Amino acid sequence: MCGIVGYTGQRQAAPILLDGLSKLEYRGYDSAGIAVRDGNGEIEIVKAKGRLAALSEKTDCGRALAGTCGIGHTRWATHGEPSENNAHPHLSDDGNVVGVHNGIIENYQELREKLLHNGYHFYSDTDTEVAVKLIDYYYKKYLGTPVDAINHAMVRIRGSYAMAIMFKEYPGEVFAARKDCPMILGAADGECYLASDATAILKYTRSVYYIGDLEIGRLKDGAVTFYNLDGDEIEKEKVEILWDEEAAEKAGYEHFMMKEIHEQPRAITDTLGSVLEGDSLNLEGVGLTDEALKEISDICIVACGSAYHVGVVAQYVIEDLAKVPVRVELASEFRYRKPLLKEKELVVIISQSGETADSLAALREAKSMGAKTFAIVNVVGSSIAREADHVFYTMAGPEIAVATTKAYSAQLIAVYCLAVQMAKARAQIMDAYYKELVKEMTLLPGKINKILEDTGRLQWLAARQANVKDAFFIGRGIDYAISLEGSLKMKEISYIHSEAYAAGELKHGTISLIENGTLVISVITQSGLYEKIVSNMVECKSRGAQLFGLTTYGNYNIEDTTDFVIYVPKTDEHFAASLAVVPLQLLAYYVSLSKGLDVDKPRNLAKSVTVE
Ligand code: AGP
Repeated sequence: MCGIVGYTGQRQAAPILLDGLSKLEYRGYDSAGIAVRDGNGEIEIVKAKGRLAALSEKTDCGRALAGTCGIGHTRWATHGEPSENNAHPHLSDDGNVVGVHNGIIENYQELREKLLHNGYHFYSDTDTEVAVKLIDYYYKKYLGTPVDAINHAMVRIRGSYAMAIMFKEYPGEVFAARKDCPMILGAADGECYLASDATAILKYTRSVYYIGDLEIGRLKDGAVTFYNLDGDEIEKEKVEILWDEEAAEKAGYEHFMMKEIHEQPRAITDTLGSVLEGDSLNLEGVGLTDEALKEISDICIVACGSAYHVGVVAQYVIEDLAKVPVRVELASEFRYRKPLLKEKELVVIISQSGETADSLAALREAKSMGAKTFAIVNVVGSSIAREADHVFYTMAGPEIAVATTKAYSAQLIAVYCLAVQMAKARAQIMDAYYKELVKEMTLLPGKINKILEDTGRLQWLAARQANVKDAFFIGRGIDYAISLEGSLKMKEISYIHSEAYAAGELKHGTISLIENGTLVISVITQSGLYEKIVSNMVECKSRGAQLFGLTTYGNYNIEDTTDFVIYVPKTDEHFAASLAVVPLQLLAYYVSLSKGLDVDKPRNLAKSVTVE
């Protein structure tokens, strides 16, 4: 997720662009850049690695760049490490086209090859440079207009984008193109604005246009003209933004955590999309060929917190599908206990930030022992990403809330891909089931959206838990792994003491804590363990527990045992965590809200624990 801005009018563009980017840094902040031009003058581009302040300093707060038309970008790297070279804006070989982009172009490699065959050169590792040069290619090929060139490019591009583009031969004009990524356009007092979201332009205008998917916008002389994919002009209604700036940063949600819960479908789609090829997966891009997957004897997953909980899910899924032994270790333990690793054991480090001290130390420990290492990381260019032998980037975008949600979900998809591809490479599953699993992964975002459509019952339930002192989350198999994450979410943001327990383990001591009114949340998605978990639930119920069930549609007889049930859509049971975790995230969120706590910044916690 990145932030883009654009401006054309009578005032100097650079300061306005920098001001807009400063409101979008929450969308990405590893590098930034602006392109400005005046009249028929050359397009001048300035870029800087690091936070926006570096760019402001380099351009003397924009004063060093003359021009009344420009575009700008603050980056969250997805393709190509954070660097000045990879920072946007990107330029076509002859300077004819310059552009900035938020989104992911899935077929950029194929388009890059096409352009290389047509004499183009590339200076960066980004998908954006490919898009800019593709537009230039069509502009020259059809000798048409910018709208024509952009149209042709949009037809060829597969993925998501919000782009702002300038053409050398069209001074004073900015063009916009959008598919699946947010972008708004504004026009007021003879000036035009473009931005990823309202925060960047509220200062200048509250009257905006929401450009639609596969639409183009032309910003010129204080007016915006819209076109469809056929190049025909279309009418657009102007709307008034009523949000304040802070609300706009959260896209209208009250907290980043709720925004990020709702971004989970997109995070899953983008992460899966990075290794999906038709109805199959290809992990060669993340360093795991089918040959390599066959060679691995064991897997050791090392992580902390929620990332560790993903590892626990992965253990069940990989062992069941790929029949490869998997163990999961807490990084803070692994790094000090002189772990025994087999010669062909793959060490997998899972980390959203890629900077967690314990996980980084564990990675270094594994490497010092000669192990092959594979990282699943959300931050491009982070320490763990750079030091691991191979890295699978989750495409969740910046996660601002301390309590992880979309990164957790993106990590789940990454480990499912590892499990499914490994199972196929080792001939542990039939091709038909392989295709079925891959297809089911593509359906998860839609099923999560279905859960998010109706959160009323969860809000009702949560409002009654504000004074609960203890909570227990129980499950068996993958449901136990889901319970771990549900319990951590509850602890992290509502400060209620909570424990996750393997349901079969309760009777070995902990059930002594269950008394009248104790909250017990039971996760029941694994059909093979259904009878067992129900008997554990009855044990709790008979001791007075407030018993809530979280299960899949169709398991209606669970209502005979529980006081309250939340249902989630069915999916392949290996992927149940991706759906069952969502109500648990929401439950913790609403309980925290009912207690008036700081959901996004809970006490005592940091987003990334970069110290021991
Ligand atoms: C989860 O909500 C917490 N923010 C925390 O447990 C987190 O998962 C853990 O600190 C690991 O962080 P990482 O993924 O950045 O390594």
